[in-house]
Amino acid sequence: MSGGNPGTVADKPLLDVLHGRRTKRPPIWIMRQAGRYLPEYRELRTRAKNFLDFCYRPELATEATLQPIRRYGFDGSILFSDILVVPDALGQKVSFAEGEGPRLEPLEGSLSRLKGEIDLEKLAPVFETIDRVKTALPASTTFLGFCGAPWTVASYMIAGKGTPELAPSRLTSYRDPDFMDRLIDLLVESSIRYLLKQFEAGVDAVQIFESFAGALTSDGFRRRSIDPVARIIRGVRAVRPDAKIIFFARNSGSGHMIAARDTGADAVGLDWSVDEEWARDNVQTIRPVQGHLDPLLLVAGGEALDRRVDRILDVFSAGPHIFNLGHGIVPETPPEHVERLVKRVRGA
Ligand code: CP3
Repeated sequence: MSGGNPGTVADKPLLDVLHGRRTKRPPIWIMRQAGRYLPEYRELRTRAKNFLDFCYRPELATEATLQPIRRYGFDGSILFSDILVVPDALGQKVSFAEGEGPRLEPLEGSLSRLKGEIDLEKLAPVFETIDRVKTALPASTTFLGFCGAPWTVASYMIAGKGTPELAPSRLTSYRDPDFMDRLIDLLVESSIRYLLKQFEAGVDAVQIFESFAGALTSDGFRRRSIDPVARIIRGVRAVRPDAKIIFFARNSGSGHMIAARDTGADAVGLDWSVDEEWARDNVQTIRPVQGHLDPLLLVAGGEALDRRVDRILDVFSAGPHIFNLGHGIVPETPPEHVERLVKRVRGA
């Protein structure tokens, strides 16, 4: 790596890739790397009365952030929190029923019950967690903050829960585009302020999660995803020109290329369905890529896992690449399979 050159960050390989540099072996982290597949997380989780309470207790959130780093020595550490703390800090009621996923009080076509701007005071415990984690991480680990992309967060805010095809937010976009614009604008402004505050508290880079890109039409994708995300990135860079930002748009198909070209993100996350040779030729030629192992291969393990890992390493070896899954790790994953993956990626 390029140690010693001005402006390099050779002691943090993941940050180095975000600067557009190829590394001999790709740095690795895993989306949702802290969580229920780890017995130590399940134990820790019993200490909070609910998931949001867990996210807002810095001693618990700090410990959950550090658990996968201690176990696997990942190159990236992602803040333990959730994308739905933003609606919570906008005054929408958010809860997590055990085993049922998130529940929000639906907006019903009006922003009147929301605050006009994000209440960063409410998120003070998140910034305290960042402060604690940054002093505890190894020097070579890149610390990642995050937020949800406006379309993904808006979809939860409108439906009040996860919905398979996002019918509520798609219908709202068609029936009441002005309302959708205003909600997305509020989330763009909120995300800029939230991410800036995360940088101020000590993260090295951030990821924007667009988990539901795949539900949009192609013009909807530009209007509801690419354009708002580009505005967030410009807004953050207006204050911190050197801010490093990863954009993960799940199931966006050829939208991965548009994301690489038009959002200004420093790296583009690839879901597992994208053809890797296409992504190498059309996305990695524009921006560093991150991904893209099917999370279920990490459940399966064995030869099938090894073969796929080797293939991904091989295809993306000529350019900047961060090894990751194509979406979050699932709770059924045996922790030993993660160890096998990390060893293989590192050639150990
Ligand atoms: O390790 C990490 O990646 C950091 C923590 C993190 C969580 N959620 C913790 C979590 C991150 C980055 C997220 C992002 C998130 N949250 C997304 C985007 C990424 C993706 O997976 O698509 C979305 C859509 C959410 C919303 C959300 N939060 C859902 C749908 C659920 C319930 C589903 C589930 O997996 O249980 C959550 C809860 C949640 N967020 C859990 C964790 C560890 C499980 C809750 C628990 O432990 O009780």
